[in-house]
Amino acid sequence: MIVLLASRNPGKLREFKQLLPGIDLIPWPPEAPEIPEEGAFFQDNALQKATFAKAWWSEHGTLRVDGVLADDSGLCVDALWGGPGVLSARFAPDLAPEPKNRLLLSMLPPGQPRGARFVCVLAWVPFQGGPRTFSGAVEGTLALEPRGTHGFGYDPIFIPEGERSTFGELPEAVKHGMSHRGRASAAFLAEL
Ligand code: IMP
Repeated sequence: MIVLLASRNPGKLREFKQLLPGIDLIPWPPEAPEIPEEGAFFQDNALQKATFAKAWWSEHGTLRVDGVLADDSGLCVDALWGGPGVLSARFAPDLAPEPKNRLLLSMLPPGQPRGARFVCVLAWVPFQGGPRTFSGAVEGTLALEPRGTHGFGYDPIFIPEGERSTFGELPEAVKHGMSHRGRASAAFLAEL
């Protein structure tokens, strides 16, 4: 099965290659336009990304694919009213991951609860048939400082429920077994 992944995020691409073995994933090509994400909810954005990518690929694609998969995801922090949430990719965009993670942690008022969750919505738009969405979430808390070098993005500051290590410290296979993207991918695979 050949699937166009509507993302250029190298962290997501690496994870999907591990999470969806047996599926031939084509990343969003460098010459293609930026994929819009203008919605207020993960689901809206995932559907917008997938339908945009399908329309562009129908006109410009060089290979026949079975469908398009899009991921909209983010870190929702309780003490920040659910932020950065759908804006996770656009939070402090000029900062490298380490200072960005430190900036986010500095915004947590001292003594406030440190609860947070990662959320992922996948939109699947087959070339024949209607769109479907699959979601996954993982509850956890924010670390006091970034720890670990595995994964990407906010992984070094997120401690999943039941663990003492951050996603940045845990082996990737352990992350996949409990992560938002791992859960949404399992639902997608079950549907396929
Ligand atoms: P978007 O889905 O393109 O809007 O980007 C989601 C953003 O959320 C990413 O760029 C990361 O900053 C963050 N994010 C989503 N999933 C993960 C994850 O598994 N680990 C760390 N950060 C993530």
